[in-house]
Amino acid sequence: MADEGTRNIRIVLTAPHPGASDELQERIAEAMDASGVGEVDVVAVAHDGLEAAQMAAQLAPDIILLQEEMPGMSGYEAAGLVSLAAPDVASVLLVDAERGESTEVVARALRAGARAVISPSTPADQLLDLLGELSAITEARKRPEYELVTDPSKMPVTIAVTGAKGGTGKSILSVNLAVTFARKYAGQVVLVDFYGQFGNVALMLDLSPNYHIGELAAFVGELDSTILETHLATHADSGLRVLAGHPGSAGVGGRLTAEQEIGFLADLVGLLRRQYRFVFFDIPPLIGEASDYIFSRAQYIVLISALVDISAVRDTSQLYRQLVDHRIAPERIKLVVNRYSRSNELTLQDIEQATGTKVVHQIPEDPAAAIGSINEGSPAVVSRSGTPLARGVRELAELLEQSMAEERQRRQRAAHPGGEG
Ligand SMILES: Nc1ncnc2c1ncn2[C@@H]1O[C@H](COP(=O)(O)OP(=O)(O)OP(=O)(O)O)[C@@H](O)[C@H]1O
Ligand SMILES: [Mg+2]
Repeated sequence: MADEGTRNIRIVLTAPHPGASDELQERIAEAMDASGVGEVDVVAVAHDGLEAAQMAAQLAPDIILLQEEMPGMSGYEAAGLVSLAAPDVASVLLVDAERGESTEVVARALRAGARAVISPSTPADQLLDLLGELSAITEARKRPEYELVTDPSKMPVTIAVTGAKGGTGKSILSVNLAVTFARKYAGQVVLVDFYGQFGNVALMLDLSPNYHIGELAAFVGELDSTILETHLATHADSGLRVLAGHPGSAGVGGRLTAEQEIGFLADLVGLLRRQYRFVFFDIPPLIGEASDYIFSRAQYIVLISALVDISAVRDTSQLYRQLVDHRIAPERIKLVVNRYSRSNELTLQDIEQATGTKVVHQIPEDPAAAIGSINEGSPAVVSRSGTPLARGVRELAELLEQSMAEERQRRQRAAHPGGEG
């Protein structure tokens, strides 16, 4: 009897002449007896290539073993039809040992749509291992990553919040944005304080994290989701997960070479995106390759600027140009003016002219909400939801969601050109 977790592997064999698959069948039966794992059911034996392809489509076995040469239709042609008509069925091409070792033959089989090439004289235990491995491929559908790949509404989104100057409100806005998303999408949002000086993000959320990003970076090369999770803190009010910044200084510490650092960031972003649907980064200005790397991986870059003086505008337009020069598509950069008020020295037009792009949103100057919420360690969207600051952040969150929805529609249209709409 099959154990819990094992299941029968259903296969179709091909026997272009009577008895052609007898030996193979015998060896499979022997191997099953010897190993005791799972069961192999031979559900049918096809007699030519066309019948083999038909049986694959109609009987939906896990695996079909195709002879290289069959009357009327070769194994290659049959594998091609199976890969189209029954993509879940793994085709295995049986090729004589010497020929099967030729990379040309293997390449031709894979191009045709076969999943593997084996010799009919393959030892039974190896054969069984291969059958087990191939039949498990479709099991990947049960993994959470399968949904990330196939369900457009579950596509992970990385959002980098940055600005050309210190003190423009990057941290307060990334914290409030991330908390807004976390309250809507429970357990699916993480915020990384990217080397943030003095660990401001943790302070703004009243967290005392046990670990910070520098300590996580020490695991470079061996980072996995368990190690990552233990280094995150949780904001109780919203469920937001937080990777805290370096307390006291910027950077991951002098221990990593530039190459190691990018390797660490690649792993970090990769793991976060598998685990969380919305990954926010609070990124200070001008930290070089590391921030460039995050920008290159982000779907959206929220570029925060103030309109206090001409240097803020000039630095913002410089950063904007630098991003575009680094081949970041302009539509991914969302220019946001913070601390917007009538008494700003400069106007929205000034910054739009300087950067050559539209300001997508303004967050009003609201010192009471900003200072009060920072001192309390409770984001304005939680503790001061009626204030102009909280409202401005919520509108920005809606705007980002709108962009995400439009992106999904664009992809759907690209996948189904000529569809309605
Ligand atoms: N909309 C706003 N209205 C009033 N004050 C604001 C607003 N946004 C931010 N501030 C104030 O600006 C200051 C800097 O904010 P914050 O720390 O978020 O900036 P930052 O860009 O992250 O700075 P740094 O570059 O040092 O990391 C804070 O004291 C905050 O109170
Ligand atoms: Mg900051």
